[in-house]
Amino acid sequence: MSPEVKPDSLLNAEGLRFDGRRIDELRPVQMEVGVLKTADGSASIRQGKTYILAAVYGPRELHPRHLTLNDRAFLRVVYRMATFSVPDRKRPAPSRREREISMVIANALQPVLFLEQYPKAVIDVFIQVIQADGGTRCAAINAASLALADAGIPMRSLVPSVAVGKAEGTLIVDLGDEEDKYGEGDVPLAILPGTNELTLLQQDGSFTREELMEAMQMGINACKYLHELQKDALKRSYSKKAPEGEDDDDEMDDYDDDLETDLGEADIMEDE
Ligand code: CDP
Repeated sequence: MSPEVKPDSLLNAEGLRFDGRRIDELRPVQMEVGVLKTADGSASIRQGKTYILAAVYGPRELHPRHLTLNDRAFLRVVYRMATFSVPDRKRPAPSRREREISMVIANALQPVLFLEQYPKAVIDVFIQVIQADGGTRCAAINAASLALADAGIPMRSLVPSVAVGKAEGTLIVDLGDEEDKYGEGDVPLAILPGTNELTLLQQDGSFTREELMEAMQMGINACKYLHELQKDALKRSYSKKAPEGEDDDDEMDDYDDDLETDLGEADIMEDE
């Protein structure tokens, strides 16, 4: 196990964070769509050292049947951390924390889905934290909403998410693990980017009313940026997949070219 290093200070004299970020600066974020071929939809996210995969299956038949909802689909979210995702081996049995995070992620995603269109079915969202370094529930929401879109499930919008915290009395955006552990609290949130409605709002630690209002504004600004990254990731995945008709045309062009070459050669032979 690598020893945990407690930073001397989370903010330096210039107001920069111990990893050099400004107070409103996100960690480097990379999102990718369609990373798993067997799933109906999938996405990955790297946010700093946090690395997460999300896979979506469905809408499909629900097992066990007693979970069936007659008027809508059941959105089943399973958030799990790999045993090797943190320096202290994570016990493989589902923890209360994992169950709670699965539930809050489902609640954050549910408002953008048209679950009533798929009565009795299930939409399965599996989230695996490969490497955890703070902010996993928010990063998981970013990836899961991309995986749902990749599965072709109709959605009102994507759901961007980030946590805003407090270190040495200053609000900071997108906490890393040390900031989460040694800071004074955090407020994970998720929004509907069209209306700024919150679909996730939690609070750990104490914040004044003014701090909470400012934290929400900082979080919403960061979510707008994350939403742009989500849209870019989706567009990149679709530009990789050429439309079927185009593919067929390309194949026919190649076939025609080959045929022309063959006939050309045949002509030449005839001329001789
Ligand atoms: O990950 P998130 O901030 O959404 O949830 P948290 O419960 O506030 O956990 C903060 C961080 O603690 C995680 O991202 C992990 O880096 C770390 N953690 C850990 O080291 N071991 C665990 N069993 C759970 C979390």
